[in-house]
Amino acid sequence: MFYSDELIEEVRLRNDIVDVISGYVKLQRKGSSYFGLCPFHNEKSPSFSVSPQKQMYYCFGCGAGGNVFTFIRQYENYSFPEALKLLADRAGITLPEEDESAENRRRRDLRTAVLEVNKMAGKYYYYLLRTEQGARAMAYLKDRGLTDETIRSFGLGYAGRYSDQLSRYLKQQGVSDSLLKESGLVQISEKQGMYDKFWNRVMFPIMDVNSRVIGFGGRVMGDAKPKYLNSPETVIFDKGRNLYGLHAARSSRKKYMLVCEGYMDVIAMHQAGFTNAVASLGTALTAQHASLLKRYTNEVILTYDSDEAGVRAALRAIPLLREAGIMTRVLHMEPYKDPDEFIKALGKETFQERIDQAQNSFLFEISVLEKSYNMEDPEGKTRFCREAARRIADFEQEIERENYIEAVAAKYQVSFEGLRKMVMSWLLQGAFVRKKPVRREDAPKKDEGIRKSERLLLSWLLEYPRLYPAVSSRIAPEDFSDGLYRKVAELLYRQLESGQTNTAWIVDQFEDPEEQKAIAEIFNTEVRVGSVKETEKAVLESMRKVMQNAVEEKGRRLDPSDIAGLQELIAAKRKIQELNGLHISL
Ligand code: CTP
Ligand code: MN
Repeated sequence: MFYSDELIEEVRLRNDIVDVISGYVKLQRKGSSYFGLCPFHNEKSPSFSVSPQKQMYYCFGCGAGGNVFTFIRQYENYSFPEALKLLADRAGITLPEEDESAENRRRRDLRTAVLEVNKMAGKYYYYLLRTEQGARAMAYLKDRGLTDETIRSFGLGYAGRYSDQLSRYLKQQGVSDSLLKESGLVQISEKQGMYDKFWNRVMFPIMDVNSRVIGFGGRVMGDAKPKYLNSPETVIFDKGRNLYGLHAARSSRKKYMLVCEGYMDVIAMHQAGFTNAVASLGTALTAQHASLLKRYTNEVILTYDSDEAGVRAALRAIPLLREAGIMTRVLHMEPYKDPDEFIKALGKETFQERIDQAQNSFLFEISVLEKSYNMEDPEGKTRFCREAARRIADFEQEIERENYIEAVAAKYQVSFEGLRKMVMSWLLQGAFVRKKPVRREDAPKKDEGIRKSERLLLSWLLEYPRLYPAVSSRIAPEDFSDGLYRKVAELLYRQLESGQTNTAWIVDQFEDPEEQKAIAEIFNTEVRVGSVKETEKAVLESMRKVMQNAVEEKGRRLDPSDIAGLQELIAAKRKIQELNGLHISL
């Protein structure tokens, strides 16, 4: 759906950012801004600021920032249309009806209906757990150490004793047969006809990030097989894209997430205070899981089972997480099988210690590798070293390689130099068959000093529009080194030209929340560096740096035979020198 700029602007104007954010964060006025505890990272003193003038927020701690749409997208994990809808509703603005195709509408209606059925089923299970029929299930959960509060907050339930109990109930509520089939809550056999997928099981509702029930897991109360049954994939349930517990873990405000294997592990960890635990359910971690995690954290600690299957699962998950840009560590669970058993046996303090000691994922991979070599035998150990060196050679950055060479050499008692030479030889071989390209995040940050000057300059322009003629006659938007800054400069220049600035609107010209965050950073660069005189000097200094960099950049690209270009360059250099005689005043 395409919404007009006017409409978007209207929704934004009618939702004052201070009002909206106050609904989520306790804010206090300080000078011209409001401050509170940042909802996007864990902190004790407020560094999260909201500016009514700029209609933007920015956290000086973690760099989160943007306008009111960015905030809702980031906080609720919404797409732009979803955020727009929420804020339009809030302001009483009706959005034009989506002109969707009949097929799209049918699918959307079906999803809504299936969600509704799941909700009804969840409530019914929840209710049954508290009846006579559910007494055994309740006793089972209590016996596994769950508190009433935990049972309530995870919405646990019981599926009823009879194999048609749920479908009978739902039909009574007016749910059609075809909808029942779509929900995956019933199965059909030739002999029995339609019967419930789950009965006589403890039920775990599976929720998406917005706490909507999208499926279920059901566990037998004894040792019968299969131990767990899960909802099949439906129009709303895609196992590869959802993580159990994420709806709660996403607001735990911890720096890292704990990823485990099962329902009970997630629940046991949450109950012990590790509310940042999630699980991929009945399936291995996928690349989609990894990118879902990346939205909420940069660091994962794998708390998989200590058995062979758990180790294999970790070995599969690590490269996927690495690929998604997540730093991973592996928790040592021995001598217990899983987090649930570990916490029961040794308590949460010891579990926290294990978290703190969790092993770097690369060293974990190497320690698994070690097991397949005979390290007593010189030849076995050499072959191990060669393989370890090959893997170390995969790191893009020299400093990273050096650090791992050092760590591996120390741990397995081999010479640093010897291992380094092996790594070098792999690198030389690799130079001819280069693998994947360098990822963007890994590329060295383009001259951060220049970018800082550029941010300052843009921020000053916003604060002191009087500077505009002096700056714009010397620095064009193209002169900014960073592509994003170039675009921002262009938009800001246009606004200054017309005499009216609107930074929140500028934010809306970018779709990517990362870009919106970068823009918030620009306009929240600390602009006062001291007295007015000092600030004026600093403005000139920043102008000089930006101009200098632009000239150098042009020089690098100049074709030596381009006489006109050369003359321009000389003129530009003169302009830099002329700054010496310039006086600017705020
Ligand atoms: N699982 C499944 N189907 C099975 C067995 C396991 O879907 N037949 C999934 C479940 O999500 C389960 C997870 O794999 O939570 C881990 O399984 P397992 O380690 O066998 O069980 P636990 O989580 O330890 O379960 P419990 O503590 O309840 O015995
Ligand atoms: Mn278990």
